[in-house]
Amino acid sequence: METARPLPTGEGYAHRSMHTLTTHIASTRDGNILHITLARPEKKNALTSAMYEALIVLLHGADADENIRAITIEGSGGNFSAGNDIGDFLSGARDMLNAPAFRFIKAIASCGTPLVAAVEGVAVGVGTTLLLHCDLAYAAPDAKFRMPFVDLGLVPEAAASLLVPQLAGMKKAVEWLMLGDSFDAVDAARHGVINAVIDADTLRTHARAQARRLAAKPPAALAATRRLMRGDRSGMLARIDAEGEAFGKALASPEARAAFMAFMEKGKAKG
Ligand code: COA
Repeated sequence: METARPLPTGEGYAHRSMHTLTTHIASTRDGNILHITLARPEKKNALTSAMYEALIVLLHGADADENIRAITIEGSGGNFSAGNDIGDFLSGARDMLNAPAFRFIKAIASCGTPLVAAVEGVAVGVGTTLLLHCDLAYAAPDAKFRMPFVDLGLVPEAAASLLVPQLAGMKKAVEWLMLGDSFDAVDAARHGVINAVIDADTLRTHARAQARRLAAKPPAALAATRRLMRGDRSGMLARIDAEGEAFGKALASPEARAAFMAFMEKGKAKG
């Protein structure tokens, strides 16, 4: 199993990260922007514990480096992310509050550096919920979002149970979080999950240009404005904890184990 190692701090840490931490998270530094790529295309960028650990280090590193003024996050191979690795769900620790996935959610929800996401293809589970914590998000017309937590015997995470009803209204949130309906980029934009639908060939360029615009603003005024706009985050962070506790219990439930096994068996049958 791949293990995550801490990144060295200081100048150039982002460049070295690709091979020192996990090859499934790539990062490059472009002036005062950090570009992060979810780089496990053969598994539609499903996120493993090592990938979460790498992301946590990158987010914390960016916050600690005053020269990083914005972060972009993208997928690879035509997809954003198929969500948490289901094999990891089966073998993962029950101590959810210390699990890398949970610590990643806390890190992105508390990240002090503006985040800009570019989504194409699938964005499932945390692939959708992490967008709730990005400052700007854009998606290609082929993007398909889904939060199938209940179908997997699980509950929402990343404060989705609070933020999705706030963004989309309770009735739409029931369709997305209880029925597990998928939705497209137009719907995501209509309900404020993303800013806009952008042609696939200009998606990344657009997201990066928006990140550059944020990075060029007076940093203190931008940071203060962001803090004011976000307001009191304690209720949102408490919801993440409450969801984490319920998620940890659900992970060990017979209905969740059956759903994970069914997914794994489908893969075996195909192979
Ligand atoms: N965890 C682990 N592996 C995953 C994965 C996940 N979340 N999502 C996709 N993969 C793997 C598949 O097992 C497959 O691996 P294989 O080629 O070794 O068999 C590969 O990625 C490609 O996925 P596949 O299912 O063949 O692609 P598809 O286009 O038919 O379907 C999805 C794409 C995203 C709809 C489908 O893979 C899926 O439903 N994944 C699970 C999503 C999910 O429930 N995530 C957790 C949310 S909490």
